[in-house]
Amino acid sequence: MEKEIAKAEGKLGVLIVGVGGAVATTLMTGVLSARRGIAKPIGSVSQMGRMKMQDNVERNIKDIVPLSRLEDIVFGGWDIFPENAYDAAIYAEVLQSKDIDPVKEELQAIRPMAAAFDHNWAKRLNGTNIKQTATRWEMVEQLRQDIRNFKEANQCSRIVVLWAASTEIYIPESEVHASLSALEAAMKANDTQHISPSMCYAYAAVAEGAPFVMGAPNLCVDIPAMWEFSKKMNVPIAGKDFKSGQTLMKTVLAPMFKTRLLGVSGWFSTNILGNRDGEVLDDPDNFKTKEVSKLSVIENIFEPEKYPDLYGNVYHKVRINYYPPRKDNKEAWDNIDIFGWMDYPMQIKVNFLCRDSILAAPIALDLVLFSDLAARAGLCGIQTWLSFFCKSPMHDHEHQPEHDLFAQWRILKQQLRRMVGEESPSYLD
Ligand SMILES: NC(=O)c1ccc[n+]([C@@H]2O[C@H](COP(=O)([O-])OP(=O)(O)OC[C@H]3O[C@@H](n4cnc5c(N)ncnc54)[C@H](O)[C@@H]3O)[C@@H](O)[C@H]2O)c1
Repeated sequence: MEKEIAKAEGKLGVLIVGVGGAVATTLMTGVLSARRGIAKPIGSVSQMGRMKMQDNVERNIKDIVPLSRLEDIVFGGWDIFPENAYDAAIYAEVLQSKDIDPVKEELQAIRPMAAAFDHNWAKRLNGTNIKQTATRWEMVEQLRQDIRNFKEANQCSRIVVLWAASTEIYIPESEVHASLSALEAAMKANDTQHISPSMCYAYAAVAEGAPFVMGAPNLCVDIPAMWEFSKKMNVPIAGKDFKSGQTLMKTVLAPMFKTRLLGVSGWFSTNILGNRDGEVLDDPDNFKTKEVSKLSVIENIFEPEKYPDLYGNVYHKVRINYYPPRKDNKEAWDNIDIFGWMDYPMQIKVNFLCRDSILAAPIALDLVLFSDLAARAGLCGIQTWLSFFCKSPMHDHEHQPEHDLFAQWRILKQQLRRMVGEESPSYLD
């Protein structure tokens, strides 16, 4: 059954960009704890998810497709701050010391490699652990060498590169991003306006045959040049922006309104967030990248062109406010103005007191493990079946993204069945 998918043999190196960040340290601490049996991987589809197969029997997803085992993961990565992952986890204050200390030694051994960084792309950040490079192309070459060195030193059979680093400033797609040759020429010409550090990480990963996952809303791999490159190199790419909290709620509520044919006149979303991510997003240029990602969701679900009476005039506003006292414990408020029979207005208020990195860590793990699976199954280019995990699912210019969480869930299951040679008759989902 699984003969077309290469087995998950040997170690899987997971190289995290932003390895000292809140999401990364929460992810690593959770995985190291889970494999010792002292924590459960709650929220992870790859670890706890189940689905029905053609015989109508429900099974664990990890028993259906050959995923890498948590025991076989080796973590590493880059950060602009030199602290090891234990000190970084303590600094992030997502998890308590009592939950970090049992894996202290393993975390201490994870030391960030020097980052490919450009202050102009994240002005609120000032670190010291940074590569000295003359051009973007040199950045790529140093990153490729890092990947090769890590793979060899840790005897990994495969690598996945995950971006869990800060959101970069907003840039629109341009000529430079339109083809692989244009992108490479711009990297060589050191076009620092159009080539972000994240593009260098992504290029380096794909060039080394490693799947690349974009967890932030950066343009990065969401450009024709990278789609072309990932297909040429036969490497999967996935993203973008982890769908962790407020947008998760939106992509459940919006399909409900549409199914019940309730109108929406306004959707106001605001957040307070006090971690380093919130600080970076406090810069308007960086927030713009996040805003575009968050705004794209409801219009796509509502299809106002088909339902002008219900969704032809939705006022959608998204705010993120940096508020240090809350640290990683984000609080999100949504006010939704809806209307029903004879236009009578109603309101719904959602107040989500979430923990950002607690929600994001299992998504990051699933994206890593499923991207590695995709590579072993011979898939390449954009992995649209992983849209389930993403706020702003990547898609090429010919296709529309799917945002509805339950439609995304069906697509994910259908792809997993297809990988093992099974069909998805409608009674299964
Ligand atoms: N936590 C969530 O729920 C969530 C949801 C969606 C997206 N995200 C995104 O995930 C990313 C990580 O979030 P976080 O809360 O861990 O942020 P964080 O600020 O705690 O961590 C980001 C880390 O990236 C490092 N970094 C920045 N630029 C880098 C570069 N060029 N190379 C290497 N390291 C670099 C920073 O030094 C920092 O340690 C952010 O972009 C955030 O927007 C998070």
